[in-house]
Amino acid sequence: MTSILILNGPNLNLLGTRQPEVYGTTTLTDIENLCTAHANKHNIELKFFQSNHEGALIDAIHDARGTHDGIVLNAGAYTHTSVALMDAISSAALPVIELHLSNIHAREEFRHKSFIAPVAVGQICGFGAHGYELAIDALVRHLG
Ligand code: DQA
Repeated sequence: MTSILILNGPNLNLLGTRQPEVYGTTTLTDIENLCTAHANKHNIELKFFQSNHEGALIDAIHDARGTHDGIVLNAGAYTHTSVALMDAISSAALPVIELHLSNIHAREEFRHKSFIAPVAVGQICGFGAHGYELAIDALVRHLG
């Protein structure tokens, strides 16, 4: 069975109360439930992991090798700073869909730069929590 890791980075554990005007009121648990319901339709398996720590996210990417078929990654602010995460994705050689709740291109200029984009299959942003379902669909289709 196809297995996808849904990996969330820093501050995403605070979704629901964190800047609701930007990120909405959906919590990370709500998103996980949404993803699980969606995955059941596709008959695929999901694993969820969130960390505020760059190294833990890198370890999760490494550990995904041989365990999962691909990753949906919302790297939060590390998107805009982390060469180490970019290298981890290249090293793991697993397909990654980059995901953001907000439209990072319509926000501050520092959010326009993504270190994930060059090593991702593609990027989905600006669709809020629904973006996770879109990302799962994109990854399933990519995996064929
Ligand atoms: C985010 C966008 C990032 O710029 C920000 O640092 C986040 C969340 C998003 O989902 O819209 O933490 O990845």
